Amino acid sequence: MLTHDVLIIGAGGSGLRAALEATTNGVDTAIVSKLHPLRSHTVAAAGGINAALAEGDSWEGHMEDTVKGSDYLADQDSVEFLCREAASALIELEHFGTIFNRDEKGKMASRPFGGHGLPRAYFAGDRTGLAILQTNYEQVLKNNVHVYIEWQALSLAVVGDQCVGVIAIDLATGELHAIRSKAVILATGPAGQIYAKTTNALSCTGDGISLAYRAGTPLKDMEFVQFHPTSLWGPNVLITEAARGEGGILLNNKEERFMEKYAPKMKDMAARDVVSRAIQTEINEGRGFEGGYVHLKVNQLGSDYLRERLPEVIEFSADFAGVDATKELIPIEPAQHYVMGGIAVTLDCSTSIRGLYAAGECTCMSLHGANRLGGNALLELQVFGKKAGANAAEYAKKCPSPEFPLQTLSNVENQNREMLSRQDGERPNRIRHDLQSTMTNNVGIYRSAEGLSEAIKNILELKKRYRQVYVQDSGKVFNTDLTMTIELGFMLDLAEVIAVGALARTESRGGHSRIDYPDRDDKKWLVHTIARYSPDGPKLEKEDVRITGLKPAIRSY
Ligand code: FUM
Repeated sequence: MLTHDVLIIGAGGSGLRAALEATTNGVDTAIVSKLHPLRSHTVAAAGGINAALAEGDSWEGHMEDTVKGSDYLADQDSVEFLCREAASALIELEHFGTIFNRDEKGKMASRPFGGHGLPRAYFAGDRTGLAILQTNYEQVLKNNVHVYIEWQALSLAVVGDQCVGVIAIDLATGELHAIRSKAVILATGPAGQIYAKTTNALSCTGDGISLAYRAGTPLKDMEFVQFHPTSLWGPNVLITEAARGEGGILLNNKEERFMEKYAPKMKDMAARDVVSRAIQTEINEGRGFEGGYVHLKVNQLGSDYLRERLPEVIEFSADFAGVDATKELIPIEPAQHYVMGGIAVTLDCSTSIRGLYAAGECTCMSLHGANRLGGNALLELQVFGKKAGANAAEYAKKCPSPEFPLQTLSNVENQNREMLSRQDGERPNRIRHDLQSTMTNNVGIYRSAEGLSEAIKNILELKKRYRQVYVQDSGKVFNTDLTMTIELGFMLDLAEVIAVGALARTESRGGHSRIDYPDRDDKKWLVHTIARYSPDGPKLEKEDVRITGLKPAIRSY
């Protein structure tokens, strides 16, 4: 049987950083990734990674901005750790070889990002995520980590309260494999494909979050979903926040700079939830353009400057919208971008299952609370990827070689066989399409009891339809019909948790905006939502927010 000390699921920023840390701690380390590592979704965090390195800045300032950005729901001990570690994480990346832009003095250049009091987003043009992914991958290759490329994890293997490995499918051959491991780290990233309008790639189906949930690990704060203000109207390709950080402005159909009205101090550079709501309000009240968009104007920055600092904004606008951003206005609309919630983890990245760790977007470390500030996601990957790798390695060193429950392999074989044996039924793409529509229409930027109840009803109906789903391709080689159907099962689980949490939370906070409960309600809802799996749907509990010094205050920009 394939056996390792530490097995990481996912090869984005957090998975690669975790692997590097585990291997350099002297344990046998491997990664299972359904994509080639350089195709991971970390590339979509384009505009920068935060650290309080500039003169006059401090980790305390970064922490204050992050906690305010979170609408006071973040656990402050987690945020403190992140902000204290930021400078060394950035310098480490620089030493790994990440090519950051420089200022006129030759120092690493920073740019402003939404909700931050000072420019503290360090960047590689508008390809920062890609640059970080590449350097982390180089380190992993250099340090003898085995990568199972295009293998997809389909189940965790859990014995009692201990995780002892996974079942994965080799996508090229269709063979299922049991992989035994003393410790497993989930680093599977986002779940944005449950929405119709999303900046997330096709691969972002929440696999790890659902695997952990099904295995009994609680999910935390799943109702908090981030909608990025500027995705390209139509295809929803991300137009980085750096476009506004560099001086871009938003205009409605009257050519008004409407953010002055919603955020008089920070305007276009307010936190993402504020800007997305403002755009949606302009569109809803008839000040957008036919079809539902507003304009982003960057052409005043000049063609040379744009080509140096924002080359992808120019390329994406040309390729996907036929717009020359150096001369014309870019049509944009908000789209799902990030889930603040995820697998509940402690500060050492462990879950409620022994030997199971998690890092990155699939987790809720509670750094972002109800709204994440741009540039903190890449930082989270570096800081907590490293921590997960170190702690999993320490655990693995002390853990005797576990027995692997072969029954888990038979269970997955049987499930797949059953799915493949159906001769007719509904095709998965229709169920997926209906799920995405219901989430975008009813669990979007603005929410209400009526819309959320409708969404839950629809999701339960979709789950019923899913039980009879028909997988047409019975082949073995890259059977994406089968794997996308399995992913649809993950997505249905998570959509239900998000909608149920959003209906329960009768207040508006950060990215969760209830038109029927427009105010923040600290008395009742300054708490986390904890969702546990049950066959009848998620069971919700509340958990206290860890507040170490920053008292909740009115949040204005
Ligand atoms: O807009 C962006 O560049 C996205 C960055 C992020 O999500 O942190």
